[in-house]
Amino acid sequence: MSIRPILIHPDPRLKKTARPVPEIADSVRKLAEDMLETMYDAPGIGLAAPQVGVSSRLLVMDCVKEEGEAPRPMALVNPEVTWASEELALHEEGCLSIPEQYAEIERPAEVMVRWTDLDGQERQEHFTGLWATCVQHEIDHLDGKLFIDYLGPLKRQMITRKMAKLKREKARA
Ligand code: NI
Repeated sequence: MSIRPILIHPDPRLKKTARPVPEIADSVRKLAEDMLETMYDAPGIGLAAPQVGVSSRLLVMDCVKEEGEAPRPMALVNPEVTWASEELALHEEGCLSIPEQYAEIERPAEVMVRWTDLDGQERQEHFTGLWATCVQHEIDHLDGKLFIDYLGPLKRQMITRKMAKLKREKARA
């Protein structure tokens, strides 16, 4: 396993629609393992393949936050929201590609998601709470969408300018 560099917004690779994964090859399993290691190292609770520069419909997440509770690493290939609740919920979101910026985003409180797991099995699960927010945020990444796209243009531009500055500073360092 290896930790991969995470792309920082603004980056055109974060704005592209990711390609469906045609089959669960070893390269897909390796990518998922690397992404989980990268996510835990960051640390974060979700990571999508475009964030490590790979245009594939693959995401990983683990929203277990309680101290002492067993981790639950998940890898979702070609995930699709098949149902979303009418009820909305407000959660503060952040993103490993937009470090240290947070905003309250409203999304469906519960979703049903279908995906293929790393053994090639079709899976479906009903997500609630933080898991529901996280899986929707990560699926958005596969469609080239970031949480700041839900904000008004002024707030979005302010964050984008901060990130561009951060990237220039990093490049000089
Ligand atoms: Ni994100």
